[in-house]
Amino acid sequence: MSAQAGLMASALRFDGRVVLVTGAGGGLGRAYALAFAERGALVVVNDLGGDFKGVGKGSSAADKVVEEIRKKGGKAVANYDSVEAGEKVVKAALDAYGRIDVVVNNAGILRDRSFTRISDEDWDIIQRVHLRGSFQVTRAAWDHMKKQNYGRIIMTSSASGIYGNFGQANYSAAKLGILGLANTLAIEGRRNNIHCNTIAPNAGSRMTQTVLPEDIVEALKPDYVAPLVLWLCHETCEENGGLFEVGAGWIGKLRWERTLGAIVRERNKAMTPEAVKANWKKICDFSNATTPQSIQESTSGILEVLQKVDSGGMSANPTSQAAPAATSDFAGAVGHKLPSFSSAYTELESIMYALGVGASVKNPSHLKFVYEGSADFSCLPTFGVIVAQKSLMDGGLAEIPGLSVNFAKVLHGEQYLELYKPLPRAGKLKCEAVVADILDKGSGLVIIMDVHSYSEKELICYNQFSLFLVGSGGFGGKRTSDKVKVAVAVPNRPPDAVVKDATSLNQAALYRLSGDWNPLHIDPNFASIAGFEKPILHGLCTFGFSGRHILQQYADNDVSRFKAIKARFAKPVYPGQTLQTEMWKEGNRIHFQTKIQETGDIVISNAYVDLVPASGASAKTPSKAGELQSALVFGEIGRRLKDIGPEVVKKVNAVFEWHITRGGDTAAKWTIDLKSGSGEVYPGPARGSADTTIIISDEDFLDVVLGKLDPQKAFFSGKLKARGNILLSQKLQMILKDYAKL
Ligand code: NAI
Repeated sequence: MSAQAGLMASALRFDGRVVLVTGAGGGLGRAYALAFAERGALVVVNDLGGDFKGVGKGSSAADKVVEEIRKKGGKAVANYDSVEAGEKVVKAALDAYGRIDVVVNNAGILRDRSFTRISDEDWDIIQRVHLRGSFQVTRAAWDHMKKQNYGRIIMTSSASGIYGNFGQANYSAAKLGILGLANTLAIEGRRNNIHCNTIAPNAGSRMTQTVLPEDIVEALKPDYVAPLVLWLCHETCEENGGLFEVGAGWIGKLRWERTLGAIVRERNKAMTPEAVKANWKKICDFSNATTPQSIQESTSGILEVLQKVDSGGMSANPTSQAAPAATSDFAGAVGHKLPSFSSAYTELESIMYALGVGASVKNPSHLKFVYEGSADFSCLPTFGVIVAQKSLMDGGLAEIPGLSVNFAKVLHGEQYLELYKPLPRAGKLKCEAVVADILDKGSGLVIIMDVHSYSEKELICYNQFSLFLVGSGGFGGKRTSDKVKVAVAVPNRPPDAVVKDATSLNQAALYRLSGDWNPLHIDPNFASIAGFEKPILHGLCTFGFSGRHILQQYADNDVSRFKAIKARFAKPVYPGQTLQTEMWKEGNRIHFQTKIQETGDIVISNAYVDLVPASGASAKTPSKAGELQSALVFGEIGRRLKDIGPEVVKKVNAVFEWHITRGGDTAAKWTIDLKSGSGEVYPGPARGSADTTIIISDEDFLDVVLGKLDPQKAFFSGKLKARGNILLSQKLQMILKDYAKL
């Protein structure tokens, strides 16, 4: 029975895949080439054919392996170029098979010498064959992989590089250089489905013959390495950027480990070697070590260091950076009350907040939020988060028993705010904060903080902050809690209303004056250390924009109607971007999500505002179709269609249903039938089925018709929504323009 026949139905196959293995004339490379070919791959067997020190060349090594493969019924071609000429090697694959899917960088030589005896040539040839060769071959294949949106790359490192090995300084340097190359390729290739993984093999070959006893060389078969290479190169393997030690039938994965370290610097003092010495034990103590997985994770702690040094909270012998949250016992944390906190505010703070969340005198209805002299001066309801947040940032969070909070790793996950009465225009609020619960979300830990704010004895508002501590999860805690105010998915239909606002470049600079001083929102250096290209807008600022949009759209800016708001923060916003709040009205609940208009990214998701029902509120929203301006236009389109006759019906052959909205509700439906007879326009839904349904507000419809609003722009900005066959609406646009001459 051939090995192939013995494979199970779920065998990992490589049919049609073109695989290049460098240095495949012997040792490990030969084993890979044979294994790939056996599973259907089209293999390019590259080998320069020199000796293990890189002297000489010849075609027989590669030819022999190709011969072996063909005898077994597999497909392969030989290539004898050095990997230093990567273009030529890859060209062999393209010439023979027209594509390249997998590159296994395996070719290698040795020039072992103790360090002082390494000649320039010994050094250079090792770097050239291993590091430069891997670069040359991979670069030649890269663009082809990118274009086809698929590629699998193997880099071959070595334990000598990872741990060092006597007599192999040149080789160690090259082999760890290859790992560095792979680390970055894994990042750059990711979005094109190009994966790059690294192996450090252990196998008996001519290379190890000189260093290992014969029986071990025999036992460490290359066949015990090849299966890992095949798996990593399979299309179903998601692994990317991994490093594996492999040999004798065993495979293990490696990663970096880092001690918690110690801060050895004090504010306004010189940093000294003595302080380093004094902290040496702690710097090198691997208990509770972390395993940073990316440069962002690696540098994220720097923010905290700067903050701690800056606040003077860290002595040269720090203790508060002790155990990570995950290993702590949370029994003492849940139910822990933060010290009471009081904060007074005047109209100044509330106006500053309103400006911070985009209220503007450009909109006359905003005057009541930005001018204390307005007859109905009001505090925006979402201002209720500000005092509560201050009570948390006052330092209480750092003092929760059993919980060590690394502030650089805290993300604001969700926010809930409920108001029991409108916020006073000025006053003093006393906040009582308590740890309501602690959840384990696997990738992180969530602290649920409940904050009640009182004016004298009267409860004014309640906030719930969900704070996500990245990397502190997985401690076996519960995932949910009945204490949590849950986020709710938005309805599965186009939004009923959309309100947009461009944020200004100064938005974060303005918003922070309300009390969130985190430099992440203003200081470019801080932002880049935290992994952002520039300072980001406060999540609660976006939250304020959206709350204001809903208040305007559905409550006529009447703050007494704003009962509660819940939001989940999904992505960062950069000042200057345009926020687009999409709303769905379901009774007194307005579901919403907030997008960045420029990118389409959802930044606040699964959110809602609960309104207090208003008597007579519905009277404010005109809904009778007769009042709509669009009705006149549809009448006109109908008349002109009659004049044009059946020609247009032949051209378009589709039925369009229009939903004209007002105040977020559908106020009228119209059908333009360009399918039957000579076409017809009538009020109401399509009698048969519509090919395309178009939803647009009465005003926007008029703007489109008058040429003030480009329909495509309206579509992309969310003003115009289309369902069904969207392409047809382009035909309609042409017809309206060319024939109806509107
Ligand atoms: P090997 O010497 O049997 O195979 C290497 C092959 O590469 C040879 O056939 C050689 O002709 C070819 N080659 C050398 N220079 C070339 C060039 N410029 N262009 C094209 N081909 C060239 O050695 P082995 O053990 O199979 O090693 C394969 C890879 O695994 C090497 O990169 C080696 O550094 C690495 N490795 C092997 C270990 C082992 O235990 N065998 C340990 C750690 C790493």
